Amino acid sequence: MIAGILKEAQDKRVVMVPAVVKKMAGAGFEVIVEKGAGEASFFYDADYEAAGAKITDRSDLLKNSDLVLSITPPSDQEMAEMKEGAHVLAQFSPRANPDISNTLESKGVSAFSMDNIPRTSIAQSMDILSSMASLAGYKAVLTAANYLPSYFPMLMTAAGTIPPAKMLVLGAGVAGLQAIATSRRLGATVEAFDVRSAVKEEVQSLGAKFVEVEGATEDKSAGGYAVQQTEEYRQKQAQLIHEKALKADVIITTANIPGRKAPILIKAETVEGMKSGSVIIDLAAATGGNCELTENDKVVEKHGVTIIGNSNLPGEMQRDASTLLANNYFNFIKYVFGNGMEKVDPENEIVGGTHIGKALPAMSTAE
Ligand code: NAI
Repeated sequence: MIAGILKEAQDKRVVMVPAVVKKMAGAGFEVIVEKGAGEASFFYDADYEAAGAKITDRSDLLKNSDLVLSITPPSDQEMAEMKEGAHVLAQFSPRANPDISNTLESKGVSAFSMDNIPRTSIAQSMDILSSMASLAGYKAVLTAANYLPSYFPMLMTAAGTIPPAKMLVLGAGVAGLQAIATSRRLGATVEAFDVRSAVKEEVQSLGAKFVEVEGATEDKSAGGYAVQQTEEYRQKQAQLIHEKALKADVIITTANIPGRKAPILIKAETVEGMKSGSVIIDLAAATGGNCELTENDKVVEKHGVTIIGNSNLPGEMQRDASTLLANNYFNFIKYVFGNGMEKVDPENEIVGGTHIGKALPAMSTAE
C-alpha cells in the first residue's frame, strides 16, 4: 500500500517526518513524498529519501497513492485525480461542517477525518487534537511572556521586588493544562476555570487554584467534551470571570464546544477594565473566540490589552508538531490499514468515528 505525503500550502507543518517514514516501511507501507513537503519543518527531501521514501510531484502523488495524507484536504479537483479506491486522511472538521460526508460521497471520495478520532484509550495515540492542543498551550504561555511587559516569576532584586505575574486559564482541557504547567514553570501564579469538574484535581496537582462556579451542566456521553451551559450558569460564570480578569496579567482561553461557536467568556467591558499591558491569548479564535474583541489570526490592542488570536500556534512549533502528527497518523494507519486495505472494518469504532464520504466495502466474512 502506498502512502503519499502532500506539501501544505498555508502551514509549516507536514504530516510525516523521516523517522516515521522508517516506521511506515517497517509496517509494510511504501511512502512517496511531494517535493519540498517537509522543508518548512526542517525535514528535507534527502532525509526522506534516506528513510526510504521516494520524492515526487503533486500530480504523480495523487495518481499513485492508496492513502493521500495531509492536514488541509486536497482541493475537489485534486481529489478527483486520485486513483480508484484511494482514501484521503486529512482534517475535514465534520462537527463544524456536517454536510461534508455527503458532499464527499457525491464526489465518490472516501476520507478519514483525523480531527474526529474518538476519545477512547486505544485511540489516544492517534489523537491529533490532543497533540496539537498540548503544543498550543505551551506556545500560548511563551507568546504571552513575550508580549507581557513584565516578568512571569517573582524576583527579589537589589532594585526592588517584582511580584509574580497573575495568570487566568479559562478551559482546563489539554491545552489549558499544558498552559498551567508551563506558566507554573515560569513562576506565575495561576487560577483556572472549567465547566467540567473532573479537571479540578488535575488543575490543583499542577499547582494552580481551581475557580469554581456551581451548577455546571456536564454530560458523560459527550466523550470528555464540554456541553452548552444554561443562561443562569453563564451569568454567574461571567461575573466571576470578570472579577478574576480585572486582576490578571495574562489570560489564556481555550474553551471550545465541538461543532459550535466558542462561548464568549470575556466581554468587551471586561477587557476595558483590565490592567493596561495585560495579554489575552485566545486559543478559540478559529471558532469565534472566547473574548468578544478577539480577531482571528490577528494581534490587536484594545483598551491597552494585547489580544492574540493566533489559531495555529502548533504551526509555530512545526518541527515537533510534525513529529507528533506523524506518529498520530502512523498509529492510525497501522491500526486501520495494517492488515491490507481490503480488511478495513467499517464497524470498528475508530473507523466509524473518522470515516466520511463514499462508503467502505463491508468486511468479507470469509476470513
Ligand atoms: P476542548 O478543546 O474541546 O475544550 C477545552 C476545554 O474548554 C475543555 O476542558 C472544556 O471543558 C472547556 N470549556 C468548554 N466550554 C467552557 C466554558 N463555557 N467555560 C469554561 N470552560 C469551558 O477539549 P480538549 O482539551 O481537547 O479535551 C477535553 C478533555 O477530553 C480532556 O481534558 C480529557 O479529559 C478528554 N480527552 C480524552 C482523550 C482520550 O481519552 N483519548 C483525548 C483528549 C482529551
